[in-house]
Amino acid sequence: MGAAADALGLEFSSLAYSSLMAPGHRVGIVGGGQLAVMMADAADDLGLEITSLAQVADDPIFSFGRQGFVGDALALDDLRQLASNSDVLTFDHELVDYRVLAQLETEGVIVRPGSTTMAIATDKERQYELFERLEIAQPDTVVVSDLASALDAISRFDGVAVLKTARGGYDGRGVLLDSSEAAVREWFPTGQTTVLVQRRVDVEIEVAVQVVRAHDGTMVTYSPVRTVQSDGMCSIVHIPADIAPALEDEAMEIARKIAEAIDVVGILAVEFFVLDGELLVNELAARPHNSGHLTIEASATSQFENHLRAVTGLPLGPTDRIVPAAAMANIVGQTRGEPQDQSFRPDISVHMYGKTPRPGRKLGHVTAIADTTDQAIERALDAAKELEQESEMP
Ligand SMILES: Nc1ncnc2c1ncn2[C@@H]1O[C@H](COP(=O)(O)OP(=O)(O)OP(=O)(O)O)[C@@H](O)[C@H]1O
Ligand SMILES: [Mg+2]
Repeated sequence: MGAAADALGLEFSSLAYSSLMAPGHRVGIVGGGQLAVMMADAADDLGLEITSLAQVADDPIFSFGRQGFVGDALALDDLRQLASNSDVLTFDHELVDYRVLAQLETEGVIVRPGSTTMAIATDKERQYELFERLEIAQPDTVVVSDLASALDAISRFDGVAVLKTARGGYDGRGVLLDSSEAAVREWFPTGQTTVLVQRRVDVEIEVAVQVVRAHDGTMVTYSPVRTVQSDGMCSIVHIPADIAPALEDEAMEIARKIAEAIDVVGILAVEFFVLDGELLVNELAARPHNSGHLTIEASATSQFENHLRAVTGLPLGPTDRIVPAAAMANIVGQTRGEPQDQSFRPDISVHMYGKTPRPGRKLGHVTAIADTTDQAIERALDAAKELEQESEMP
């Protein structure tokens, strides 16, 4: 914090600095989705109070009777209203404008992670530049802003590419995996948009690392999890990741290096591809992440608790894995309502998000604990399938 403040030419009195170290117990969350809900659950155990700035009146936060109001996460006045009830602001999603966050900071609002971190975390172009600067291997990338340049870049990658909008994409929606000319023409955004064209690499394995960083630079790191995607959306996560221990260590070290470089306060998820036994970094999320949900059951401290600990200045908790193996499966589809969790064995935990059903929408997840990853994956998939079937539209 000191070094970053110096770099920005800011001065803190010792009084201001001590208030920064312990911002208090009221946490304002920008967003009212499932991450906000799971943060609120963790907050109960820590004696913290949560208020959410939700996007719409049927956001998950309200399904669980949590405190919040509906507003626009891009609007300064709505964020000011959230700040007026909070000691620190943090995030459930990335659809925010870092310049507005910077304005709040100049007004004395504590935002964690801060505006400079969010400027990078919300923008894949800045992430690409950061990885280049830190000399962390990543897929070959060309940044473009018009269709003709995109098609040109794709041909440089022998026609096999992935296209990503720099800002505003999530759950695979900002990503095009089909680089045929017709698909690219249809997908390419109109207006002033920055797009990354990446060589499509032969991904063998995808892993993610969660690192949590406190205001004083202290960090704790979770062991890598393996993530499996279908249609560009994460469908299975398991731990252990079943990759070489040296690769695990390297991924954790890279994640810490990035966390330090972007001065994150809170949790940071770093996604990687494994290719020929080497790591390529994919992208970042400076918030609790789908790949870390299984830490609720599998780790000594969940990602949600550790994120809240970091942003409120509480000591960080241990990240040890406390079960032999765990797997998480998303519940996606047309769920009608709450499932009958009682019908599941005690080694299965069901988390429904209280969302209005929509085909393809993530409506919840299950985590299975087992002796081996294969067993855990099988049980998680079975349970998720059962929940999706059980609650199909009549
Ligand atoms: N260069 C690439 N080569 C091969 N596959 C890729 C590449 N880039 C992305 N993918 C695939 O597409 C998925 C989604 O890409 P990415 O993580 O960049 O997008 P996202 O929509 O921001 O992700 P998320 O679903 O995590 O929000 C990756 O997990 C991976 O399976
Ligand atoms: Mg991703």
